[in-house]
Amino acid sequence: MTQSATLHTLLDAAKVWHSALPALSNFVAWPQDLTYAERPAHALPHIAHLTTEPGEASAVSQPLRDTIIAAAPYLEWRHTYTEEEVGGDFLNRFGWFELAGPDGHFLTNETRMTVGFWGANLHYDWHQHEPEELYSVVSGHGQFLVEGQDTLALGPEGTRLHLSNQPHALTTTDAPILTFVLWRGAGLADPPRMST
Ligand SMILES: [Fe+2]
Repeated sequence: MTQSATLHTLLDAAKVWHSALPALSNFVAWPQDLTYAERPAHALPHIAHLTTEPGEASAVSQPLRDTIIAAAPYLEWRHTYTEEEVGGDFLNRFGWFELAGPDGHFLTNETRMTVGFWGANLHYDWHQHEPEELYSVVSGHGQFLVEGQDTLALGPEGTRLHLSNQPHALTTTDAPILTFVLWRGAGLADPPRMST
């Protein structure tokens, strides 16, 4: 398939996922202003881990997980963080891409949809950002830490809300995690910043 056909197939799978989980569809409506943007693929080392060990999915999440894996060579994967910030092992087994948003494979100003993958036994340290955020777990599992709230262990179909500028962190233990994440509100184009 071409990159465009692959990305449109992935967008369709994301839309099915968005409508299947009430938490997602109640958080933000599916954007109506989506336009496809030609973005060059950018590979990162974590693709090998995502492809060989993506983590267990549920019956509902498996179509999206498998579509993400099939699309992996066509995606503009990003790190954002530096080795000084998170370490070399983290960067070898972590990557994310923007499916839709101000700077995504599809352009929209209504929300931001990203997909992130972390290998097992990684700690994504405390960080924050202005937009509100809803994580959903596609496969694998992890511990979701939020300042002022109990830590939640979440697997496929689990969701967690982060309020505007509320510090949060993510730890994986014996499994990787693949997440689909929505943002809403002001600051959609701004990157997260590590909490001080
Ligand atoms: Fe976040």
